[in-house]
Amino acid sequence: MKKTSVYIETYGCQMNLADTEVVLGVLNSKGYKVADNIEDAGIVLLNTCSIRENAEQRIYGRLGNLKKLKDKNPETVIGILGCMAERLRDDLVDKRKMVDLVVGPDEYRRIPEYIDEAFGGGKGIGVKLSRTETYDDIIPYREEGLSAWISVMRGCDKFCTFCVVPFTRGRERSRNLESVVEEIKQLSERGFKEVTLLGQNVNSYNDNNRDFADLLAAAASVDGSIRVRFTTSHPQDLSDKLLYTIAEYPNLCNYIHLPVQSGSNRILELMNRTYTIEHYLNLIGKAKKIIPGVSFSTDIISGFPTETFEDHLMTLDVMEKVRYDGAYMFKYSAREGTKAYKMEDDVDDTTKTKRLNEIIDLQQRISYEVNQELIGKEEIVLVEGFSKKSDLFYSGRTDSNKVVVFPINKEINVGDYVRTKITRATSGTLFADDSNLVQVRSVRESITA
Ligand code: 5AD
Ligand code: SF4
Repeated sequence: MKKTSVYIETYGCQMNLADTEVVLGVLNSKGYKVADNIEDAGIVLLNTCSIRENAEQRIYGRLGNLKKLKDKNPETVIGILGCMAERLRDDLVDKRKMVDLVVGPDEYRRIPEYIDEAFGGGKGIGVKLSRTETYDDIIPYREEGLSAWISVMRGCDKFCTFCVVPFTRGRERSRNLESVVEEIKQLSERGFKEVTLLGQNVNSYNDNNRDFADLLAAAASVDGSIRVRFTTSHPQDLSDKLLYTIAEYPNLCNYIHLPVQSGSNRILELMNRTYTIEHYLNLIGKAKKIIPGVSFSTDIISGFPTETFEDHLMTLDVMEKVRYDGAYMFKYSAREGTKAYKMEDDVDDTTKTKRLNEIIDLQQRISYEVNQELIGKEEIVLVEGFSKKSDLFYSGRTDSNKVVVFPINKEINVGDYVRTKITRATSGTLFADDSNLVQVRSVRESITA
């Protein structure tokens, strides 16, 4: 067991994955090394998520397991990072004595100090939220690869009534545009082919009056062979300028994650989502016109307080109208500290589950149908590696983030863009045969060719 060897497990959203890389970046610059396995590590950290109750339950379960590790090696420092930090530090540190270290999302710069405190027998605790911290100057630690997450803003000011994020991650703040561009340049030099710009609500990005469309344009201009994705967009802030920018740059993916949450205006108002379904559908229509072939994914919550069967039907109706490529679907989970927590959680669990299953079934059907429509069409794919099931097949992703599986071919390597013709499709995967593969050198070229 080495005191400078660190192991991090990451739970929750992509922001957390990006944060883990920031933490490892900070630790790396102080001489810490990533442990190959948990037994060798002197420091074991869980980067946690609070978004729904079951996410927190998982962490408690995992901490229970880690106790065994600690019994074997009492010197091991066990720590909690991320969203659970502030909310649960008293419980975790004082009451349950489960961890030696608790560091919230805005205190990662000081993590080496907190680790020293913990090794010194104290408790390393840093849970203050900041209005300015963006980790602009920290170089995240990334293994070699094709695809990288880049966090471009932190926190959220939207205060949707169900959501803990504004409390766990603090207020909205944007990173400096040049620092994002510089990071993409470095990734380009290392051979990365895809970046995803991350924020809880990227559309309210603002760096000295440069908005998210400006950032996307700058990001796309770094290297035409790098695909640029982004998430998450709030329907209230998605501007026309942004839609035109996506249409203009071939390497900006024609794919928008646009959480709708519910199809009922009454529920949307109770959620403080600040848009109506009419506005939302209008936006989808506009995006489809401006960006040919654009696809959408969404987030949906079933069983928000007071949701009736009619409200639920309205959600199904919106799904039919938009025909999302994919959806993340959840049962409402009451979170302490939020406004909705004060409302009665009056949709019983059986009803929530039943509605959720109907939503999932419908999305499955829509994804299947949307994918069937692609049969016979050409798709440009970034080759990511062998398919999950066989080394005789490659798998990659389309512009709209769909997985395509196709036979390997000597001339094609991981990291290449190829043109495939779709021959078969399920709800989750597209298949192509090898006869129509054409290698292309960049996304831009592939589209203008
Ligand atoms: N219960 C259920 N789902 C939630 N989400 C956020 N908070 C909750 C909650 N309390 C979902 C929303 C959001 C996604 C990231 O998680 O759909 O868009
Ligand atoms: Fe949570 Fe709403 Fe902010 Fe998304 S926009 S992080 S759901 S408060």
